[in-house]
Amino acid sequence: MNVKIYDQKGGLLALNNVSAPTLMNAIRDAGLDLTAQCGGCASCGTCHVYVDEAWRAKLKPADEFESAMLDVVELRQDSSRLSCQIELTKELDGLTVTLAPGAAFT
Ligand code: FES
Repeated sequence: MNVKIYDQKGGLLALNNVSAPTLMNAIRDAGLDLTAQCGGCASCGTCHVYVDEAWRAKLKPADEFESAMLDVVELRQDSSRLSCQIELTKELDGLTVTLAPGAAFT
């Protein structure tokens, strides 16, 4: 499982052989600047990412809890998702996202 992540400054980090259960876990394991304050409960919004256009349709739709949280995150875009709600299945091999500015440590 491979994932590509652009950080808030535009730097690209390619993560290879990822075994984390969710994208949020993979990002944190890699030491990137992601607060993820609630630890994956879809209740903080600080794991906000923008999903690359080519991958958006391949993700499961956001459930009601993720959708409610996305309604209040900073700088929401059509491509916004909570990385803690993205399970890293093999169908998502190559997933590419960008960390949202508001997801950084403050
Ligand atoms: S870690 Fe809090 S919403 Fe994802």
